[in-house]
Amino acid sequence: MAITDCEVLQNYIRLCSDGWDQGWHERNGGNLTYRMRPEEVEQCRPYFKETPGEWVNMGVQADNLKGEYFISTGSGKYFRNVSLAPQDNLCIVEINEAGDSWRIVWGLEKGGRPTSEFPSHFLNHSVRKEATNGENRVIYHAHPANLIAMTYILPLTARDFTRALWQSATECPVVFPGGVGVVPWMVPGGSDIAWATSKLMREYDAAVWAHHGLFASGPDFDTTFGLMHTIEKAAQIYLLALSAGQGKIRQTIQDDDLRAIAKEFGVTLREEFLE
Ligand code: 13P
Ligand code: ZN
Repeated sequence: MAITDCEVLQNYIRLCSDGWDQGWHERNGGNLTYRMRPEEVEQCRPYFKETPGEWVNMGVQADNLKGEYFISTGSGKYFRNVSLAPQDNLCIVEINEAGDSWRIVWGLEKGGRPTSEFPSHFLNHSVRKEATNGENRVIYHAHPANLIAMTYILPLTARDFTRALWQSATECPVVFPGGVGVVPWMVPGGSDIAWATSKLMREYDAAVWAHHGLFASGPDFDTTFGLMHTIEKAAQIYLLALSAGQGKIRQTIQDDDLRAIAKEFGVTLREEFLE
């Protein structure tokens, strides 16, 4: 038995490999965090380091994440290497009782620290945990090319992106009826972009980072990966249609069609995004 036999780590690692296979993780691009269930922490605890790392202040704080444990990709580590050497590319961090610092309790055996986007992940976990009554556990950041390309041609508003994506594939309004938020271009890695993103994640379960990528959230790995995948595929269809039609869209899904989908599938669309 090894820590990597634990189901939660297997599922985590599978998402990393799937994201790499999709082409969303050039070099060290992208990062993944998971808020562990108490029983998963206990399963993994026998493999924790005898002496945990030093506490490191995050520059952000959350009362509802005090004492939680997260699995995180390491900063500068490559998704394509995660399945080959999880112990060198991933870590488990514990959050202190003040809710403002982490320390490494497992992994990154050759050194390193959790993703540079940990402050964004952390605040997103905090608001999604609150918004979903504790259901949300996964925050996933990737660099999917078609969605990034869209941020060069559409106005950077939640309404414009949500409408374009909803109209690009019939399943989209069912998968993300609340739409997607959009963060304007900002310097990655710090607390400013973390605050800007988490403000949107109060309302949306995905947020686009202009000219950079996407943050997606969900209760488990399948749902979160599925959300990233659905949004990126819709972005691809949007760009294919625009390119093939040389910028002209002959027909699309109408707003009343979107309403009909919502009614049939029992979801509530963000009405202010409809005409
Ligand atoms: P990390 O290697 O620190 O996770 O950064 C990758 C990234 O995508 C930054 O936005
Ligand atoms: Zn990134």
